[in-house]
Amino acid sequence: MNLLGAQGKLEQPLTRLVIHRPDDWHVHLRDGAMLAGVVNATARQFARAIVMPNLVPPVTKAAAADAYRSRILAAVETGLDFTPLMTCYLTDDSDPEDITYGFKVGIFTAAKLYPAHATTNSSHGVTDFTNLYRVFAAMEKIAMPLLVHGEVTQSHIDIFDREAVFIEQILSQIMRDFPALKIVFEHITTSEAVDFVEASTHPIAATITPHHLEFNRNAMFEGGIRPHFYCLPVAKREVHRLALRRAAISGSPKFFLGTDSAPHTVGAKESACGCAGIYNAPYALESYAKVFEEEGALDRLEGFASQFGPRFYGLPSNQNHIVLEKTAQAIPPHLDIAGNHVVPFHAGQTLNWTFQGQTSH
Ligand code: DOR
Ligand code: ZN
Repeated sequence: MNLLGAQGKLEQPLTRLVIHRPDDWHVHLRDGAMLAGVVNATARQFARAIVMPNLVPPVTKAAAADAYRSRILAAVETGLDFTPLMTCYLTDDSDPEDITYGFKVGIFTAAKLYPAHATTNSSHGVTDFTNLYRVFAAMEKIAMPLLVHGEVTQSHIDIFDREAVFIEQILSQIMRDFPALKIVFEHITTSEAVDFVEASTHPIAATITPHHLEFNRNAMFEGGIRPHFYCLPVAKREVHRLALRRAAISGSPKFFLGTDSAPHTVGAKESACGCAGIYNAPYALESYAKVFEEEGALDRLEGFASQFGPRFYGLPSNQNHIVLEKTAQAIPPHLDIAGNHVVPFHAGQTLNWTFQGQTSH
């Protein structure tokens, strides 16, 4: 990363960042008209993205993932270089053979564990994770990463405690029983998750979203109910946000970028039963750059955004570079997508960084 001036001193203030092209290790691209309306926001900023399989119906088979990948590629603008990395939605009766086949032929990059009813379109998710032990054994053998939505779902467990309880009751046991299974703890939201991943000697890493780095749970209730700040796992107390920021800027390769960009129409969000999800893809890198700058850690952004993810997945880093410039940009109150309004993260705010695209050097 070009941070050093001619004399090898850190240039202050930094107004231009050139980093290897990043990847998004967790994104929801949807399908149909919504897919066409959102995919290019991701494809402009990121070379690759781990695409979530929670469509209706979910992507549970290699053939379905292959077809979904073709639909994604067909929706990418000509001239954008973007590779979707497909995931398998695990269910109680997932087939280890199809998963192994899908991984070996390069259709699946990973498989996603949604506890049933944990979040949007997770009704086909797993009711008892021990149903998946044959699948986990197969994945462990072929070094296929398991991506976990780390929340328990029992109604007597407080929603703000669900991630911490998942670590104790489920994740720890999977790790004990499958010591070589690669695991990505997706969109972590708690200091417990940070501490757990940091301390573990297991092959486990975690993704962190821009929104969990930027606001705490108060944002959902500021002056009234604020559905555009509702996502799952739900934002937690300030102490947890601060722990996530420390993890993101730590330089530890166990923490890397995953936006969890999850578009819903205004109508689906502003409802008596509003959907969880924040659409952050169009300004994702600007949002992360804001956080890293506030923390005085812009020199660590490249590791988090471009290096640690591929390293964990066993993939090469991207060779080309992108540019972020310290130029203010006003974020619109809403975007017109597929004939609907979608409210992006940072709507109505001004961000200090602007993504400029790729550069040849
Ligand atoms: O906020 C979320 N939205 N969290 C998830 O886990 C799913 C996602 C979605 O698909 O909308
Ligand atoms: Zn997600």
